[in-house]
Amino acid sequence: MFTKETYQKRRDLLKKQVNSGILLFLGNDECGMNYTDNTYHYRQDSTFLYFFGSDYAGLNAIIDIDENREIIFGDELTIDHIVWMGTQPTIKEKSAAVGINETAPAADLKSYLEKAVKQNRTIHYLPPYRPEHQIKLFDLLQVHPNIAAKNASVKFINAVVNQRNYKSTEEIIQIEDAVNITADMHLAAMKMAKPGMKESEIAAAVQEIAIGAGGQLSFPVIATINGQTLHNHYHGNTLKSGDMMLIDCGAENGMHYAGDMSSTFPVNKTFTQRQREIYQIALNSHEAAIAELRPGVKFKDVHLKAARTIAEGMKDMGFMKGDLDEAVQQGAHALFFQCGLGHMMGMDVHDMENLGEVYVGYNGEAKSTQFGLKSLRLGRELEPGFVLTIEPGIYFIPELIDMWKAEKRFTDFINYDKVEEYKDFGGLRNEEDFLITENGARLLGKPIPKTIEEVEAQRS
Ligand code: GLY
Ligand code: MN
Repeated sequence: MFTKETYQKRRDLLKKQVNSGILLFLGNDECGMNYTDNTYHYRQDSTFLYFFGSDYAGLNAIIDIDENREIIFGDELTIDHIVWMGTQPTIKEKSAAVGINETAPAADLKSYLEKAVKQNRTIHYLPPYRPEHQIKLFDLLQVHPNIAAKNASVKFINAVVNQRNYKSTEEIIQIEDAVNITADMHLAAMKMAKPGMKESEIAAAVQEIAIGAGGQLSFPVIATINGQTLHNHYHGNTLKSGDMMLIDCGAENGMHYAGDMSSTFPVNKTFTQRQREIYQIALNSHEAAIAELRPGVKFKDVHLKAARTIAEGMKDMGFMKGDLDEAVQQGAHALFFQCGLGHMMGMDVHDMENLGEVYVGYNGEAKSTQFGLKSLRLGRELEPGFVLTIEPGIYFIPELIDMWKAEKRFTDFINYDKVEEYKDFGGLRNEEDFLITENGARLLGKPIPKTIEEVEAQRS
């Protein structure tokens, strides 16, 4: 945990920003996997962690701004809990560690809120992302699950986003720690992969590194020879000579900060000529994007620059044709680059996606609905303190190619005969994490092999 002053300062700023009412923070509970006592890996809610630090199930909290009270609600462990799961600090101790003196039994939260409702006071809550949050909101405030997200407090969301988007020095140290573990995961995968191995063996090895470093995964591992599927969690294939392996994985360190990197390398020691050519286009796009990173630049424009660089490479190879400004503006490049260039990263790998991309990544502006751009999670003007990923890729998705071709989509810009020749190519991407600084951007963590020469050197 950080010192209690960190949490106190965060809550003080939040109180100033929201100004009145009661802020309700729902902590996460344990969740049974197949029966109650066999639980999924426990993960506290990130906003709860950010303001209350406490990494334990069964807690909720309020900040009553009008009455200047901060209360953590929870019950002490029973002897049965202690026998089964071990002991924990008391609620008072958990609260004191983050500068909170007032605690109450879990059941008192409902009566506190009922009294406030009777007094017509405003109770701010965040959008629920777990069924347990929906049930709590229904129980505490009689908000039906169908309307709970819609009725969440935009003022509260914006106040949280306006703090969590700007990473402090002590947070950046934690993120960089997570990214360094993430780099080790990729280096291990690059070293071990060989023909005949199963994807699952590589997925297991990278997970071992994350857990061995004292944390967890920041999201389920992608370790696949079918990189054309953007989020492919299937690990049943055997690596063959001539395949490319795409790894997208990250560590969450012990302080619950995320790393997120992707690498693509040949299962053989060297890339084939086809693989080299496409890899180089994605790498050019990656470097072009990095060169744009600085305060004041809109990330949407960085994304479009990366898209334009891919389109140029694809035109040089004969996949695309015509006016590339027009092609990118209309979204024709999205046949090969269907996703966003990157996203915010912090305690969540897609930071605060539960609060809404429009608030986190667009500062309240509407997102594009165009195929490709609609998947861009971050579009706003960059500011110092933002931490984000850069992850352009090139993907040949047979079903998408068939669909666009049948619909005669973008025939002015796409040469479908050439695309057909690469329908079995697969997909590739590299991904790195950056901090926006006062003058530009800084790569977080230790670099991993990225150029063709660096990757092949790592494989030999
Ligand atoms: N690297 C995982 C993701 O961005 O979704
Ligand atoms: Mn990512």
